[in-house]
Amino acid sequence: MQFGARLLKTNPVNPSAFRDVVDLEREFLASGLHALVAMMRMQPISEFAGMPVPAAPAPVAIELSDASVTFGRGARAVPALSKTTLRIADGEFVALVGPSGCGKSTILRLVSGLVQPTTGVVIVGGREVAARALRVGMAFQNPTMLPWMTIERNIMLPLKIVEPFRSQFRKLRKTEFRDKANALLEQVGLKGFGSRFPWQLSGGMLQRANLCRALIHEPRMLLLDEPFGALDQFTREELWSILQDLWMAHSATVLLVTHDLREAAFLASRICVMSARPGRILDDSQVTFSRPRTVANTFEPDFVALNQKLRAFIVDARTASAEGAA
Ligand SMILES: Nc1ncnc2c1ncn2[C@@H]1O[C@H](COP(=O)(O)OP(=O)(O)OP(=O)(O)O)[C@@H](O)[C@H]1O
Ligand SMILES: [Mg+2]
Repeated sequence: MQFGARLLKTNPVNPSAFRDVVDLEREFLASGLHALVAMMRMQPISEFAGMPVPAAPAPVAIELSDASVTFGRGARAVPALSKTTLRIADGEFVALVGPSGCGKSTILRLVSGLVQPTTGVVIVGGREVAARALRVGMAFQNPTMLPWMTIERNIMLPLKIVEPFRSQFRKLRKTEFRDKANALLEQVGLKGFGSRFPWQLSGGMLQRANLCRALIHEPRMLLLDEPFGALDQFTREELWSILQDLWMAHSATVLLVTHDLREAAFLASRICVMSARPGRILDDSQVTFSRPRTVANTFEPDFVALNQKLRAFIVDARTASAEGAA
């Protein structure tokens, strides 16, 4: 069972349940934090904007070659992801969009090493996934805060685990690292909430804290699974700008899963549209709007046209899926 699902099954007010969660913490550290991303490149139809994906930008951060995932076996087998080939260059910001259940989170889990491909290969940072831990930040679809730790300590967790921070953790946790956590909290509108516990925060606040934890160790790769899904529109738009600023400043490789097409167009340099389950990439196109992009830009005709294109792909994918099921 995935870390998040197990954690959700844990009663946050039952101290005996916390023992399980200590194991989960280890699992979280061992797996989630060496998750990764990169840019993927497929054989796109590349209809919208008439902008084909440029040839082989170097270096490649993430590469899926004919990677597919089927969960379970025999009669219970669930094909989640069709054979997928995708290459993502270092520093690219890629959004994955597609109907619910099409395999978007599965791709993130593949890249992070939380799931092994049934066929094919996943290479991150030049090595096959699981061969080596990488400094990756991951924000899971369901915020997975450890309930016995304050928000501040939850956010500092990657610093406790990942070098070069780990060896300095004892020395700096009450000074520099704490300041770092609180600076991020302030950036996402959670100033003063560092000393609260996760169960004292709303779902949207937890998602913001989740984003801080993904960013605190300045990862070269960031895997974001609907990180703004539970937020109101205005907070969401504020966080788009924050994330865009961070990306422009640090140019980490980002793989963002989202159902919000405006969000994808605002943030990404490239958008991959997936078919219904078992997902495959239907379209892979560059988004060339200049940066920094503003919320006002998202209401301009080119932006709206892009959204409509994306929407049409997804409507078609959903229709094809419903017809297939009938
Ligand atoms: N551990 C698992 N065991 C069995 N089936 C799974 C498992 N994880 C995912 N699936 C199935 O694989 C398919 C793809 O799941 P995934 O979570 O990748 O979808 P998604 O595109 O992220 O969907 P959503 O947009 O709803 O989050 C789904 O049909 C799901 O039921
Ligand atoms: Mg998902």
